[in-house]
Amino acid sequence: MKVYRSIKPLIEEIGRLKRKQKSIGLVPTMGFLHEGHLSLMRRARRDVACVVVSIYVNPIQFGPKEDLRKYPRDLRRDTDLCREVGADICFIPDTRTMYPDGFSTYVNVEDLGDTLCGASRPGHFKGVTTVVAKLFNIVRPDTAYFGQKDAQQAIIIKRMVADLNMPVKIKVVPIVRERDGIAMSSRNIYLSPDERKEAVSLRRSLDLARVLYANGERDPREIIKKMRRAILKEKDAKIDYLSIVDLKDLKDINRISKNALVAVAVKIGKTRLIDNVILSNSQTA
Ligand code: PAJ
Repeated sequence: MKVYRSIKPLIEEIGRLKRKQKSIGLVPTMGFLHEGHLSLMRRARRDVACVVVSIYVNPIQFGPKEDLRKYPRDLRRDTDLCREVGADICFIPDTRTMYPDGFSTYVNVEDLGDTLCGASRPGHFKGVTTVVAKLFNIVRPDTAYFGQKDAQQAIIIKRMVADLNMPVKIKVVPIVRERDGIAMSSRNIYLSPDERKEAVSLRRSLDLARVLYANGERDPREIIKKMRRAILKEKDAKIDYLSIVDLKDLKDINRISKNALVAVAVKIGKTRLIDNVILSNSQTA
């Protein structure tokens, strides 16, 4: 596996691969890798000739009061894992490389980035789309892999790719969960053992939504009411949002008629966790 820390030699390597007509897959990450990230890499490994993983904690997607400084990092372990999974290239830039002095161009997907996570994290998705657009320009992947865990992020990236005619296919990979059901996340490490038990309530509330839906409930308000109750049983849980939205435009829906996204964001103590499930017509309990 080749490791690149600067952009120019990576672009040259990508040029060589393109000339040999190798297909390229990109897995963008912020590191502190877990099975969720690895599942994206394994999927890429199956699909393409050359798997590129980027590891970069992108400061412009963090708000001023967020956890940029203490975001967990372990580059040695991350590169070992990338190698084990069979990545070909690991790109680990620093911030002077990604945002040199004078940097002033941003990519912003309007509307879709203002709801759900965007409402409580203003500017977050603008930071995400900007860094992902840069990564697409550097790596020129045929396919890029994103997790369903960050459902809104994947939807926004698809929008950006369509709107800006970027020649890349976006593949969205299912959520990988811990044994207790909570979605894997680099931020789970912040949870104390007690908080960790409370965090299971996110998953429990989504299971409840699935069961209610399978039993015929189509009113989002009823489902949300019961989910809210399930989460607020936990003493340290504060709901940021709990929404049932249209999978395409992320707008609230009045009645569940086709594919709907149930998305939750909950703060357990100081840690903000997200999770989601898609309610599809074919689904049963
Ligand atoms: P990060 O949180 O490191 O996640 C990298 C990718 O892994 C994202 O596409 C995310 O959805 C996916 N992922 C995380 N946890 C997962 C899980 N439990 N199951 C499946 N996939 C999971 O998302 C980001 O980084 C950044 O915003 C980034 C896109 C890299 C831009 O900076």
